Amino acid sequence: MPSLQADHLYKVFGRRPLDAVHELQQGAERAALRDGGSTPAVIDASFTVEEGEIFVIMGLSGSGKSTLLRMLNGLLEPTCGRVLFGGQDLTALAPSELRRVRSHQISMVFQHFALFPHHGVLENAAYGLEVQGVPREERLRRATEALHLVGLKGWEKSWPDELSGGMQQRVGLARALATDAELLLMDESFSALDPLIRRDMQDQLLELQRSLHKTIVFITHDLNEAMRLGDRIAVMRDGRIVQLGTAEQILVEPANDYVASFIQDVDRSRVLTAASAMVPPHRPDAAGCGCETVTPNTTLAELLPVTARVPHPVAVRDDGDRLLGVVPRQRVLTLLGDHDGPQTPCDARPTEKEATGA
Ligand SMILES: Nc1ncnc2c1ncn2[C@@H]1O[C@H](COP(=O)(O)OP(=O)(O)OP(=O)(O)O)[C@@H](O)[C@H]1O
Ligand SMILES: [Mg+2]
Repeated sequence: MPSLQADHLYKVFGRRPLDAVHELQQGAERAALRDGGSTPAVIDASFTVEEGEIFVIMGLSGSGKSTLLRMLNGLLEPTCGRVLFGGQDLTALAPSELRRVRSHQISMVFQHFALFPHHGVLENAAYGLEVQGVPREERLRRATEALHLVGLKGWEKSWPDELSGGMQQRVGLARALATDAELLLMDESFSALDPLIRRDMQDQLLELQRSLHKTIVFITHDLNEAMRLGDRIAVMRDGRIVQLGTAEQILVEPANDYVASFIQDVDRSRVLTAASAMVPPHRPDAAGCGCETVTPNTTLAELLPVTARVPHPVAVRDDGDRLLGVVPRQRVLTLLGDHDGPQTPCDARPTEKEATGA
């Protein structure tokens, strides 16, 4: 069952919101509506976040990310459209039922995580469980486990002001994890951190996700962060989702000039993988090839030294040693945007000899 679904969501602030939605549906421009006193913050957003997925919503300031996220957990009522969570229509729930879903099944981590200064770290991490009415002993036990998960073992008795910004953010993450909520909504959760700590937190989140398999919606305005974390990324512009796809899809096939201009500065070598670079082997049954082999998710950064070392295309094989394709050196250079790079004898479509390494 899909975990979370946005179904033609609209949010318009200001005057005559429903009229504004109808005008948008008939092709009215957002700017014209703004002149008339309505602010369309989210326009016709539809997507499904699968269970266990990290789904990133990326866009510049004011593009509608937080508004969209607040509709996903029922904090904001959509002007139009529905949010389905585990098949349940959040927009149709009674307020008390919605509060229950929000406190038990959904956790949020914000950019500036507000810890209670007069409570210790452990009590802060246990706060979500306190709201749920979990008995004290159990909530402290679960909060302790969550603090260990985020690398804060030994800090349970400290006070928030004894922690660095990055550590405070970890307490926020621990609070969200302690509740066992299956859906984690993270709004610019790492944006206030300096770059090295931010990267650490990204690594930590990816590592936690490998064992916890939460469903995560992560908001960021940083495309590199989006590409590092996201299984899929929704790119927003002026309230609309202008592209939805994997990092590779967005890099290889940007939907429009806007997305293309966005991805210019991305380090493609760390996002693109052998899977997107490979071409069909000339002879698909070319087993037993003695040439260099990589897995489909080898990044181009890792692949480049291999292609530089060997004269023939590199074979891409899955765990079962099946030949999936081959990557000629020229293809790697082309994908990295180095069109003037050294030419190799192998064309994008390798010869049988090159494909098999024979
Ligand atoms: N409560 C509100 N009342 C009126 N307009 C609002 C309200 N909340 C948001 N907006 C407007 O909706 C648009 C989208 O805002 P939103 O906060 O969702 O953007 P964002 O992508 O999260 O931006 P940021 O990266 O700065 O957090 C903006 O034009 C904003 O001014
Ligand atoms: Mg925001």
